[in-house]
Amino acid sequence: MAELVVALDFKDAKSALSMAESLKGTATWMKVGLELFTAEGPTVVKGLKEMGFKVFLDLKFFDIPNTVQGAIRSAARLGVDMVNIHALGGERMAKAAMAGCAEGVEPGEEPPLVLAVTMLTSMAAGDLPVDGAPEPSEMALDLAVKAKQYGLNGVVCSGLEAERIKAACGSDFIALTPGIRPADSAGDDQRRVVTPAQAVRNGSGFLVVGRPITGASSPAEAARAILAEMDSA
Ligand code: C5P
Repeated sequence: MAELVVALDFKDAKSALSMAESLKGTATWMKVGLELFTAEGPTVVKGLKEMGFKVFLDLKFFDIPNTVQGAIRSAARLGVDMVNIHALGGERMAKAAMAGCAEGVEPGEEPPLVLAVTMLTSMAAGDLPVDGAPEPSEMALDLAVKAKQYGLNGVVCSGLEAERIKAACGSDFIALTPGIRPADSAGDDQRRVVTPAQAVRNGSGFLVVGRPITGASSPAEAARAILAEMDSA
């Protein structure tokens, strides 16, 4: 059963927590990203955990292995349920992330899932500033296969790539997909988008949705409509 993750891209904790409050009983997962975490830090994560949400800390770590190990250790200590790094950081960085994850939890405690970002869903062919770069979908697949080999729990990818990634990496390997747009909504800055139903049919285990929910006149209604579409896929 695929899960809905609501992206709380807000400038302060007050707005984010009030949006989360309005989604209580509808969504289970909230995502804290760069804007909100840079403004409010761990306090907002603790607030969401106290409200009973599962938290995906989406800071897309990409640094030398020692620094990423420490950052993931801190995230695990903070009690987040999911965290991510960039697959482009390679094997040593990925393995350091998994080591940090194990160090950050007490014995018997469930560690957070560690996912690797393959290619941002806002990037289309030609956006990668590298001459002769492969197509984003091909690159996402190659990076996912490597992330699996490095021992990560899954990847962040477009719903367009989820099916091939699941076929190559196995059904237990998580595909989390942002870039979700209900058929009648704006694409915003996203490029490699799919509808909620397409994402589920393609094997996505977690659908990350921000503006189509947080920008709706009734966020709870928008979330319920997306969940209904996911259920009927
Ligand atoms: O508002 P929207 O639905 O486009 O939000 C998507 C969220 O997913 C944003 O918080 C963005 O940072 C995040 N994300 C993404 N593409 C990735 C990884 C994360 O859009 N590859």
